[in-house]
Amino acid sequence: MPAVEDPRILVAALTRDDAAVFRTSDDRAIVATVDFFTPIVDDPYTFGAIAAANALSDLYAMGATPLFALNLVAWPRDPELLELLGPTVKGGVDKVREAGAFVLGGHSIDDNEPKFGMVAVGDAAPQRIATNSGARPGDHLVLTKPIGTGILSTGLKRELISEDDMASAIASMTTLNAGAMRAMHDVDDAVHAVTDVTGFGLLGHLSIMLEASGVAARVFADAVPVFERTRELIARQAVPGGTERNREAVEPRVRWTGNITEESRTLLCDAQTSGGLLIAVDRERTSDLLRSLETNRTPAAAVVGEIIEGGEPTIEVTHAKA
Ligand code: CO
Ligand code: CO
Repeated sequence: MPAVEDPRILVAALTRDDAAVFRTSDDRAIVATVDFFTPIVDDPYTFGAIAAANALSDLYAMGATPLFALNLVAWPRDPELLELLGPTVKGGVDKVREAGAFVLGGHSIDDNEPKFGMVAVGDAAPQRIATNSGARPGDHLVLTKPIGTGILSTGLKRELISEDDMASAIASMTTLNAGAMRAMHDVDDAVHAVTDVTGFGLLGHLSIMLEASGVAARVFADAVPVFERTRELIARQAVPGGTERNREAVEPRVRWTGNITEESRTLLCDAQTSGGLLIAVDRERTSDLLRSLETNRTPAAAVVGEIIEGGEPTIEVTHAKA
């Protein structure tokens, strides 16, 4: 991507933030993002809802309020598969309505494998935009959903588990990060950096935040909330290719201390769909943030690490807080 410069461009691809931010007046900015992927659960309505929650998540990660969305559909002409398209779109539309926004259009093409997602557009006051670049030494790292959705959906694809076995992960993936954003706004200027945990996994997205902020971090592996059955599935080799690639990519930047198990290392790199927000918060306000996350009933509210002074490697993974 070529670098672009214009005073109205507040956030662009360069910082690998979650969404683009374009100022339209002194007090308003448009926030836009796009996301689509192949089905990760069998039920089409649920898949549509997850895809929408996932697309909207990048708006919430920037502190923006969703306004509207456009569907992206790539679908086979096979009549049996076409029957699943209606419920998929309905799942997405209902989720966007829950967010207080509207689906206003979209585009569809023929494809061999079904794919569904959305362009999501929101707005925010420019001074309220949360980016991944402001984390400071001393900040706590707070995570708002458990991890392990990539491993669970791979286990489902390989028929090692049923959709019922991953009910809590499905409930989490269909939960909007709206509540997490409200909690973040409750403590406002105590939040220094935010991203959502998706395809690059917890350590991958953390590493992007650290690079953008010029700092390092310590992660407490035992404090990271994890969905049930994931460790068992890793032992049975149900690990998505994306998770393995994430681990290879992040490994040079990580120091594992205290015999962190293979399962934990893989889990911390697991590619997430519709994951939670990872928030770097002033530790003086951590308890306020946790309380507000609980009030907003986020799927998790856990201190999973802390920001430290920059240095190599940038991420130290230990068992628990010293
Ligand atoms: Co994101
Ligand atoms: Co996105």
